[in-house]
Amino acid sequence: MKVSASAPGKAILFGEHSVVYGKPAIAVAVDKRARVTIKEGTNNTEVKIPQLDIEAVIDAESRRVTWMNSPQEAGKFDTGILEYIQVALSQLGTPLDGLKVEVDLEIPIGAGLGSSAAITVATLAAAARYTQQEVSLEALAHTAHQVELQVQGAASPLDTTVSTQGGFIYFTQEKGAMKIKPALEMPLVVGYTSKPGNTGVLVEGVRKLRETQPTIVNPILDIMEDLANQARKSIIQGEEKEVGELMNINQGLLDALGVNTEELSCLVYRARHAGALGSKLTGAGGGGSIIAYCPGKTREVLEELESIENAFPVGISSQGVTW
Ligand code: MEV
Repeated sequence: MKVSASAPGKAILFGEHSVVYGKPAIAVAVDKRARVTIKEGTNNTEVKIPQLDIEAVIDAESRRVTWMNSPQEAGKFDTGILEYIQVALSQLGTPLDGLKVEVDLEIPIGAGLGSSAAITVATLAAAARYTQQEVSLEALAHTAHQVELQVQGAASPLDTTVSTQGGFIYFTQEKGAMKIKPALEMPLVVGYTSKPGNTGVLVEGVRKLRETQPTIVNPILDIMEDLANQARKSIIQGEEKEVGELMNINQGLLDALGVNTEELSCLVYRARHAGALGSKLTGAGGGGSIIAYCPGKTREVLEELESIENAFPVGISSQGVTW
């Protein structure tokens, strides 16, 4: 038996971090995916992620992960990525004795583009098929969020929801996802700093800052709420300039929350200099990526960012998880 499932990564346009405190966020599923294939193996669970040179074994009983690559190679990666797979398989009660799991990953890891959510959602969907369980999209998104909580600590359901549903989404923890119909094109370029950000650590950093400076940080989170709501209107009404302006303000506030870095700032300003209407870090920050909104200037912004770091255009994927 061999089954496959795939799920998209995401880019957050507005509301990272503030979404953890119940504020709205706007995010899109991107045309870069994680594809997970599960087939029968001999014993334990063998995991391969060729793009990252990862080969590992999850022990069927202890669930401990052992790397099959040399320690130097293994050390290059955040070992957490295998934990998402292990916990996702365990959540659905998949027997870990005699499985081969292969992940085909188009999303750079730790780049703020939702690689862990996409891997989690695709692993759950593939495991559901493998174990012949009927799982609704809602249940899949809910379980994926539980996996993220278990592996990384504090996390909102934003990433796992976008990865499950696909499309252009306005999200609140209270009401879940609502699809947005944009009245404008959304040409986006990602600039990737090559330094992975650790979402758990960054979310915890903001939590501590809010605890020590509540009268400063709470109003910032309130303004982020206004930003996301205003951006939603502007996207629906096709107001390009305003969308860019709101992204730039959001970037300033993320800097104030302490999740910006010098490398991210450099990419943000160079993108604007090359003609982006708006640019900001996307995802947890602390490394990872920026996203630049560049109507009519995609080539110029791409060339500019490529001259400093990795950069690539991303399209919006209407397709969520498929299995
Ligand atoms: C990470 O992609 C987005 C954060 O808001 C964390 C979360 O929502 O879980 C930083």
